[in-house]
Amino acid sequence: MLRTRFTELLGIDHPVVQGGMQWVGRAPLAAAVSNAGGLGILTALTQPTPEDLRTEIRKTRELTSKPIGVNLTILPTINPVPYDEYVKVAVEEGITVIETAGANPEPYMPLFKEHGVKVVHKCTAVRHALKAEKVGVDAVSIDGFECAGHPGEDDIPGLVLIPAAADKLSIPFIASGGFGDGRGLAAALALGADGINMGSRFMATEEAPIHDNVKQAIVDGTELETILNFRPLRNTVRVRKNGVSTESVEILNKGGKFEDVQHLVAGARGRKVFEDGDIEAGQWTVGMVQGIIDDVPSAADLVNRIVADAEEIITGRLAGLVNQPVNA
Ligand SMILES: Cc1cc2nc3c(=O)[nH]c(=O)nc-3n(C[C@H](O)[C@H](O)[C@H](O)COP(=O)(O)O)c2cc1C
Repeated sequence: MLRTRFTELLGIDHPVVQGGMQWVGRAPLAAAVSNAGGLGILTALTQPTPEDLRTEIRKTRELTSKPIGVNLTILPTINPVPYDEYVKVAVEEGITVIETAGANPEPYMPLFKEHGVKVVHKCTAVRHALKAEKVGVDAVSIDGFECAGHPGEDDIPGLVLIPAAADKLSIPFIASGGFGDGRGLAAALALGADGINMGSRFMATEEAPIHDNVKQAIVDGTELETILNFRPLRNTVRVRKNGVSTESVEILNKGGKFEDVQHLVAGARGRKVFEDGDIEAGQWTVGMVQGIIDDVPSAADLVNRIVADAEEIITGRLAGLVNQPVNA
């Protein structure tokens, strides 16, 4: 067992979180991760309406009695999103952990506190983590430059970002971006984090509700096959390198506007990739960690393996390096 401030805070067995993932963070995956002793998270905005989120929460509860979280991502969108309604439903349904991302969660903090909700705020910079700590979140999840999705604009990889966060934060925090195995978990703990958050690695699990072709593409993909889109718009996303994302990057690099690439990067096309398995059909998110993903296990096998390997690294290999005569 690896006990950390984060596992204590949330009452979970393992310091392993499945972060919010648009189109992927649904009941089967979240329940499987929570059943495995980690924290599974439903992605609120994957559900078309707040009432659909309510249904999905209830569906997840039928699959697990362990704590589950809900991700609320507040980002600029083309169509207005009723964030308040999604939050209301999550609270009404008794959700006790909310992962906020994309914007300062301050406006929602009084409601969360009133209902005893633990808030894990995901961000990509130490200054944003400190701000979140100041507004009263319970924990932070900090995403390094390696991550899938939005790495921010500072481009600080985990090897520097995690200890930098450890030096400044008082509240528990988990490291995110580029984690996929026990080596990563052991490293995150060594760097001062209280656990890890993973997205891409959980896409390549049996329970991830996406087409097998996408899982296989992740297994086949290397660390070189991601690309940063929307950089000139200062809304960077790390996505799988394919024809669509490459074309979009080229248009924006030549001075194109969002409207010029909208038809390429539309969320509906990305969703089709996950549903139909045509990995060239749209832009879809995955991180550099795909380079070290080699299989499609069940979420439970994955979580158990990661924790067992981290324990073995800490108590075996690393402990064995201490005070051993070199020629023994
Ligand atoms: C397919 C996919 C969709 C994602 N969608 C969201 C999202 O809607 N909201 C969010 O906060 N993070 C989202 N993320 C980011 C993850 O929660 C997590 O921070 C990230 O994947 C960590 O990097 P990793 O993929 O290297 O593990 C997404 C990641 C993936 C792979």
